[in-house]
Amino acid sequence: MFRIHRLSIVAFLLLGMSASPCRVATAGQPSPSIIPRPVEMNVRDGVFRVSPDTRVIAQGEAGTEADKLIDALAPAMGFRLQRADDAAGGTSAMILALDPAMEKRLGAEGYRLEVATDRIELKAAGPAGLFYGIQTVRQLLPPQVFSAKRVEGTAWSVPCVAITDYPRFGWRGLLIDPARHFIPVDDFERFVDLMSLHKFNRLQVHFTDSQGWRLEIRKYPKLTEIGSRMDHSRRKTIDGRYVGGFYTQDDIRRLVRYAAARHVTIVPEIEMPFHTGAAIVAYPELGINMGHLADAPPEQRWGKTKGLIAPRPETVAFLQDVLGEVIELFPSKHIHIGGDEANTGHWANDPEMQAQIKRLKLADAHELHSWFIQQMDTYLTKNGRRLVGWDEILQGGLAPGATVMSWRGTAGGIAAARAGHDVVMAPTSHTYFDYRQAPAETGLGRSVINVEKVYSFEPIPAELSPEQAKHVLGGQGQLWGELIPDQKRREFMTYPRACALIETLWSPKAPRDHETFTTRLGHHTQRLDAAGVNYRPLDEPGKP
Ligand code: ACM
Repeated sequence: MFRIHRLSIVAFLLLGMSASPCRVATAGQPSPSIIPRPVEMNVRDGVFRVSPDTRVIAQGEAGTEADKLIDALAPAMGFRLQRADDAAGGTSAMILALDPAMEKRLGAEGYRLEVATDRIELKAAGPAGLFYGIQTVRQLLPPQVFSAKRVEGTAWSVPCVAITDYPRFGWRGLLIDPARHFIPVDDFERFVDLMSLHKFNRLQVHFTDSQGWRLEIRKYPKLTEIGSRMDHSRRKTIDGRYVGGFYTQDDIRRLVRYAAARHVTIVPEIEMPFHTGAAIVAYPELGINMGHLADAPPEQRWGKTKGLIAPRPETVAFLQDVLGEVIELFPSKHIHIGGDEANTGHWANDPEMQAQIKRLKLADAHELHSWFIQQMDTYLTKNGRRLVGWDEILQGGLAPGATVMSWRGTAGGIAAARAGHDVVMAPTSHTYFDYRQAPAETGLGRSVINVEKVYSFEPIPAELSPEQAKHVLGGQGQLWGELIPDQKRREFMTYPRACALIETLWSPKAPRDHETFTTRLGHHTQRLDAAGVNYRPLDEPGKP
């Protein structure tokens, strides 16, 4: 393994341009190493130089995005660009503009970027498109621009290009898991910064599990008072380290705003009916046959919960109350309710749950699972939201409004898309970033998922017709937190695999060319270095 050494800007301009992939016209110029690869890029002669005299011209909502460009460039350049209404004679200008008519061709997230020697023009139908165009401008600059500290002696030049770009998929997601190891707000924000500069737009947050409940719910304060204290458990995390804590509702409002400013939607995951041990420890009446433990101290409840709630009417009402506060906090259209890995055998063997199955005229515990998910689906739909769940929610019948997240391979996603349901592809085979990146490394799961494997991910299975394929909203990489205690480790497990994943979700399907990607990724690591990202070093070519 090796890290590519930092190169001077001159060397970057010579070497930092990769051989161009076949769909990129270059007019004899080398092609900049942009990740994810833009749809169309024409490189021309000349460069645009950013200097303190450069003016940024933008009106209205475009001005909000323009300020983000100014903020992004200032730390490394050591000067803040000024906004102006017009380029004064002879001054170089960066012009950002919204043109709603572009939506027809480029969608809400696409953009058109033209760089000439005296001006940069960035246009998009909406603010998200401008934001993504800005991320491309950052990558066209020398990699040191990603530094949080002033970099001296760098010529801040952008090669002259014309780029037309838009994403292949609308759901370009990553998942983080503060339930297993709590993620402090500052680390959470840095994660959002890094994902948004790569053009990811969905962050699923696994707020609750048996190891911890991390989201303040006003109506049920014990969920965090007791449920966030994993140290009550005599069972430690599997890495033996304990990172506890929870987000107040004020923290959440701040994080939602922070992410939205970077065009990232936080998709909250409130896990049920399994992976609910922390909630049951806090409120034993949620569990199966837990009444006898209600008066016992919490530490005696851990390990007895089976991690599975009992779907009696009071439990359904409790969880709907929780979802009520969740939808007040999170504007996301999609709300994730988990739904995975429930051992419904515990219901089948419990007299109260057997009676519940009979009362509801259901055939078995699988149908009780489905009935339970439908109660959540009805509630969310009534409140204008959409339920998302892991592919086990297909068992016993899929709730009418449900979107399926396919993790046990692609079969669940295929079945759901064929039945007319939306799907997000998140298979363990390619998108589980808690798995190790090389045989000698640590990670969950038996498989090795390296960059090459991620880059071979195709979100649309060949089995789907073009009509069914429209239900595939996109894909997502999972960073389950059992073995990720801190930000350093999180970055090591996320990058560079997320760079490969985003290209499968943003760039056109063809041509997918591992060789040019590898070359571009090599240059991209200089940006990650400048940003201080603790990425996993790239494998040396030809070495296992
Ligand atoms: C999962 O990995 N249990 C969704």
